[in-house]
Amino acid sequence: MINPNKIYNLDCFDFLSQVVDGSVSLAIIDPPYNMKKADWDTFESQEEFLSFTFKWIDSLLPKLKTNGSLYIFNTPFNSAFILQYLISKKMIFQNWITWDKRDGLGYSKRKYSNGQETILFFTKSDKHIFNYNDIRIPYESTDRIQHASKKGILKNGKRWFPNPQGKFCGDVWHITSERHKRKINGKVQKMGHITPKPLDLVERIIKASSKEGDLVLDCFVGSGTTAVAAKKLGRNFLCSDKDKNYVKLAKKNLKLYGN
Ligand SMILES: C[S@@+](CC[C@H](N)C(=O)[O-])C[C@H]1O[C@@H](n2cnc3c(N)ncnc32)[C@H](O)[C@@H]1O
Repeated sequence: MINPNKIYNLDCFDFLSQVVDGSVSLAIIDPPYNMKKADWDTFESQEEFLSFTFKWIDSLLPKLKTNGSLYIFNTPFNSAFILQYLISKKMIFQNWITWDKRDGLGYSKRKYSNGQETILFFTKSDKHIFNYNDIRIPYESTDRIQHASKKGILKNGKRWFPNPQGKFCGDVWHITSERHKRKINGKVQKMGHITPKPLDLVERIIKASSKEGDLVLDCFVGSGTTAVAAKKLGRNFLCSDKDKNYVKLAKKNLKLYGN
């Protein structure tokens, strides 16, 4: 039996088979991408990769509550296949989020250099939670906003005043990658995990798509980002990873936040 607020060292299929159906409010899934960055990210073929991906999706979907939300990270190319599969499973498409990683770009000389990842946002029904006020972001045109906050701006016959918390959050997220954030004098540093997600990015997802006390699931938790963000924001979490060293690291990261 899987208990909340612990990090398990289990393969995703063993782990998911022990989670109660209909218990999860939010799943944040950052799975292998088949980019051959590590053994766990290497598949014999794209077919084998997709078959693994569709298999964990099949195990995961029954765990979501009827008003639950699902976010899946991947490359834009793989996300095109994952999107089709989720549609075939009657999940409801909400957003194709483009994460602009603000990282050093690669060196492609035959095409544009890759600088983005995709985050697919789906829900199980249209009764999902979406706390748009909790994820507002600062306005960009500060002069105009300063002016508007005093006198307002006339829009369609009504006077509009800017929200002090900022504007609505769009579907293109400009958030610096961990790899880039941790560079020293421009040099990439060795990290405990090769692909940690930024904490602020995962916090945004949790704030938008769950309430305090809700259950957040991540079956590829790596360095523990989802667990740490859930803990910080007063949510419960169900997390696992098949690599015992990553589980150790995740537990260590969680301890820094008092668990
Ligand atoms: C992209 S990383 C996740 C990184 C994480 N979001 C973070 O912020 O650190 C994917 C993780 O999936 C784990 N993994 C790969 N195959 C797995 C499987 N079959 N079951 C459980 N975990 C798996 C890897 O060990 C790796 O830590």
